Amino acid sequence: MSDDFSYASAEKTAAAIRSKIDKRSPTVGIILGSGLGGLAEKIEGAVRIPYADVPGFPVPKALGHAGTLICGELGGKQVVAMAGRFHIYEGHPPALAGFPVRVMHALGVRTLFVSNAAGGVNERYHAGDLMIIEDHLNLMFTNPLIGPQQPGEERFTDMGNAYDDKLRGLLRNAANANGVTIHEGVYAALFGPSYETRAEVRMLRTLGADAIGMSTVPEVLVARALGIRVAGISAITNAASGVTNAPVSHAEVLDVGRQIAARFEAIVTEFVARLD
Ligand code: HPA
Repeated sequence: MSDDFSYASAEKTAAAIRSKIDKRSPTVGIILGSGLGGLAEKIEGAVRIPYADVPGFPVPKALGHAGTLICGELGGKQVVAMAGRFHIYEGHPPALAGFPVRVMHALGVRTLFVSNAAGGVNERYHAGDLMIIEDHLNLMFTNPLIGPQQPGEERFTDMGNAYDDKLRGLLRNAANANGVTIHEGVYAALFGPSYETRAEVRMLRTLGADAIGMSTVPEVLVARALGIRVAGISAITNAASGVTNAPVSHAEVLDVGRQIAARFEAIVTEFVARLD
């Protein structure tokens, strides 16, 4: 694994991927969260590339993260999907967590759909619910953009419309069209890998978080610096610590993720089809 997460390095990675996917140029990027990898099976004419064959990508170790790049067609669009992402809790530098988005941009991606498994902080949310990400709180207090400014990236990125208003509308419509009730709320990203204490969850609620997780924000920061529009969904796999008395377990997170999968896949496919 290299430690060069520059845009130039991303272009080299993109060239290696392009050599495996013929002339197809993906315009939509999709990042699949824990337990949500099943969407990859819906991608037609898929070319599957294990991360071991993607220069610059480490092989992920988190359970429930396959570590495959899938290029093909979904909802009539050419997409590149990541089943398995790079978390800072694995010991990866923040810049690596955002690096795949540079690669996607170099491949032609201009719209990014992000997803994650998250704990419900909002007391009205239940395990098995879905939430459109309205905005985020970067409680990782780091940023993959720290370091030399990369070509094509803004140095001081406006994060005011990070989760694009218009795309959130498309997600709402896609959910309605499939008869799926969906929340809209704020995702807070923490490092993990431990889940939160009850006091931390109370604090997060006070800060305005509706859901919490350990990913997504680094990828969104890079996407916005590159001018990629972003939309995302959190799969609420559990009530956050203290919301109920149940302990939070990774097995439950993956299991509920799978129960959510059919609704999630229907919405994302419809959303991609509706993109202009
Ligand atoms: N906290 C943090 N991350 C998570 C959770 C949680 O409760 N559930 C799934 N990912």
